[in-house]
Amino acid sequence: MSSPDHIADALLEWFDCHGRKDLPWQHDRTPYRVWVSEIMLQQTQVATVIPFYQRFMSALPSIEDLAAAPEDSVLHLWTGLGYYARARNLHRCAQEICREHNGEFPTDPAGLEALPGIGRSTAGAILSLAMHTRAPILDGNVKRVLARYHAVEGWPGQRAISDRLWRHAEHHTPQERVADFTQAIMDLGATCCTRSQPRCESCPLHHGCVARQRGRQADFPGRKPRKETPQRRRWLAVVTRSPGEVLLEKRPASGIWGGLWAPPEFDEEIAARAWIQDIIGLPSDDCRVDAPFHHTFTHFKLEAHPVRVHCEANQADATAVNIDAEGLQWFSLHPPPAVGLPAPVLKLLTKLGAEPF
Ligand code: ADE
Repeated sequence: MSSPDHIADALLEWFDCHGRKDLPWQHDRTPYRVWVSEIMLQQTQVATVIPFYQRFMSALPSIEDLAAAPEDSVLHLWTGLGYYARARNLHRCAQEICREHNGEFPTDPAGLEALPGIGRSTAGAILSLAMHTRAPILDGNVKRVLARYHAVEGWPGQRAISDRLWRHAEHHTPQERVADFTQAIMDLGATCCTRSQPRCESCPLHHGCVARQRGRQADFPGRKPRKETPQRRRWLAVVTRSPGEVLLEKRPASGIWGGLWAPPEFDEEIAARAWIQDIIGLPSDDCRVDAPFHHTFTHFKLEAHPVRVHCEANQADATAVNIDAEGLQWFSLHPPPAVGLPAPVLKLLTKLGAEPF
C-alpha cells in the first residue's frame, strides 16, 4: 500500500497496466514534438488534439520548419483549435529558439520559462517527458489529483492555492522514471480521477486520498467564484462579390482573434452600414442583416449579426483603392482560404460558399 507521502510507486505500477502509451506525441519524443503537443493540449481534449497534431507535424516536422513558416500558415493549421494566442506564441517561440539557441531547446527550467508561451508546467512537461530531467508539472488534471489527494481547499486560480499544489507536485515527483511518472499522473486525472464521477474504486491512490476518506471528492479542486458571463453583440460587414469571393481583414495581433482573418467588426449596426457606404461605396439600403450566430469564449458570449452586401465585379473594381488602404483582401469561397480563420467565421464562409451568386 502506498503511504500518503509516496504516491510515485503506486502510480508507476498503475501506469504500467493502465497508462496511455500510444498517443502520437509519445512516439519519437523530441522536445519539439512534446512542446507542440503540450501547447495544443492546454484547454483542449486529447481526442480533439490528435488530428490537429498529426496535420501540424506532417506540415512542419521540425522547429526550423515552424520558424520559417508564414504566420498565416501556422494559424491555418490551428483553425478550429481556438485560443489562437497559443499558435502565435508557438511561432514566435520557434523563431526565438532558432535565432538565439541554434534550434535547440534550453535544458533548464529558467531557460524554458523565458520563452514565449512556456510557463512552469509546460517547462516541466518538456523537461520530464523529452529530456528525462526531474521536474514537476501542474496542469488541470494534476491539479485535480493533488487537490483531492491532499484535500487542498480553494480555487487553484489563486496564487496561494497553486503554490501549495506546486509544493505537493514537487514533493511527489520521483528521481527515477520521471517521464512515466509525469504521463501517469496526467493519465490518472484524465481517465480515473475525473471531474465528475471519479472511479475511486480502481484508483491506485485511494488509500491515501483525503477527499475520498471524507467523501468530498466533488469539492476539489475548489471552483472559481462564479460571475455571469457577459454578452457581446457585434455586427460583421460581410461583403461578397461575384463569382464567389468575400472581403476579409487581418485582425491586429492583440485580441481574441489576433492574426486571424475575419469580416470587419462593429459595435453598432449603423457603423457597419456606414462603413459599407463610405469604404465600399455601396448604398446602405442594399444591405440586409442575416440571423445572428453565437459563439462562447472563456470570458464572454458573442452574438454576431452579419450585415450582408453583394457587389458585381465591376462595382467592386471602383473600390479597389480603399480596399488596399484598409488592409482588406478578397478571398475565394471555393474553397475557404488557407489562412487562420476563427471557427465561427469558417462556418459562415462555408455557408456563403454554398449560396448561389
Ligand atoms: N495533457 C497534457 N499533456 C498531456 C499528455 N502528454 N498526454 C495526455 N494528455 C495530456
